Amino acid sequence: MYNLRGKTILIGITGGIAAYKICELIRMFKRQNANVKVIATPNALNFITKLTLQNLSQNDVAVEEFDVKDYKPEHISLADEADIFVIAPATANTISKLANGICDNLLTSVACAYKKTIILAPAMNCNMWGNKIIQENLTKLSGLNYQILQPESGFLACGYDGKGRLCSLDKIFDATVNSLFASQPLKGKKILITAGGTIEDIDPVRYISNYSSGKMGFALAKTARELGAEVTLISTVAHDNAIIVKSAIEMQNEVLKHLETQDAVFMAAAVADFRVKNTAEQKIKKIDDTEEITLTLVKNPDILKTICDLHPTAKIIGFCAESENLLENAHSKIQRKGCDYLIANDISRKDIGFGADENEVHILSADGKIEKIEKASKEIIAKEIFKRIWSINMN
Ligand code: PMT
Repeated sequence: MYNLRGKTILIGITGGIAAYKICELIRMFKRQNANVKVIATPNALNFITKLTLQNLSQNDVAVEEFDVKDYKPEHISLADEADIFVIAPATANTISKLANGICDNLLTSVACAYKKTIILAPAMNCNMWGNKIIQENLTKLSGLNYQILQPESGFLACGYDGKGRLCSLDKIFDATVNSLFASQPLKGKKILITAGGTIEDIDPVRYISNYSSGKMGFALAKTARELGAEVTLISTVAHDNAIIVKSAIEMQNEVLKHLETQDAVFMAAAVADFRVKNTAEQKIKKIDDTEEITLTLVKNPDILKTICDLHPTAKIIGFCAESENLLENAHSKIQRKGCDYLIANDISRKDIGFGADENEVHILSADGKIEKIEKASKEIIAKEIFKRIWSINMN
């Protein structure tokens, strides 16, 4: 039993009789909770119907190019979204197009734009399989990001007996799962991530908080899970599997509860430095002749500093939000807090930082090194952070 929840498997079906077998392959992935998307070539639909594939995958089936559903062309969004691409059955025709960069349908265009692993399961007549051109094309593909699953020998649908039958669905399934988990360099690691702005009550109606949306923390959590880590997400904003907290004190309690077992802690949450000294139990009333009221604030615990002072074995990664003198302030903050890395965020810009979908950061290391990650989506920034902190190669 594998848990493929959160994984998107893209299945490309080309026009061969073995296309009908892929219905069962889709079910095998669905049983393990994968999100399955299907691209069929127009020829594949001579062998199986779009409706069958749609029902089994519980997703739209893509066939035509330029069937644009959002701002990205379909071949780019499908290529970006999929964790792995399985082309089965792969005909001699499609193999040859792939090997020569021909993009004359949606499937070949997606394959051309796809940078992660492509599992290719050929199926064809034995004489076509033996053709030198086809073998040369397969050799070319195997030197790229393709993993070729050899067809099997036996009785073929065309009446011949020889090599060319689609390999077993178990083989395709195992190769897919192995490849998905092989790219999990953080398997076995436990990572704690905080996200969102803490909420400090003034009374039952009002509170002090900040503009943190949780997006950066969520992107880190998604990437950590994709890399195989077991993630504990502590957030002030509701999100998949998150432990929800409200105030800095609640967040600190949760962080400390989990700290000992962690391999790394990412403090991406924007924790309020102060809270109201005496939170009113009832709503503070507006008194007509009072022009101002005074709230007394007291210092919150500094969670990041507290955990660094405990000298845990975990790597500790702080984040800082600066509206001026970014690197200068970040530099003194990493020294003051004592963390291993500090990710410096410029929150004076509207296009990055708080609430934005994109970010641009500098990674400061305790040894004084500074690396800039250019503006990109928070997901890409998260990947770059993991790449650099753990020296991981990711495609
Ligand atoms: O959530 P988003 O909308 O995506 O925006 C988040 C972000 C992109 C701006 C994010 O990356 C970020 O910078 N988060 C941390 C913001 C922050 O609180 O910065 P700070 O400079 O105030 O704090 C420095 C570090 O100390 C942070 O890791 C913070 O979690 C921690 N801290 C701060 C105060 C406190 N009392 N306890 C803490 O642990």
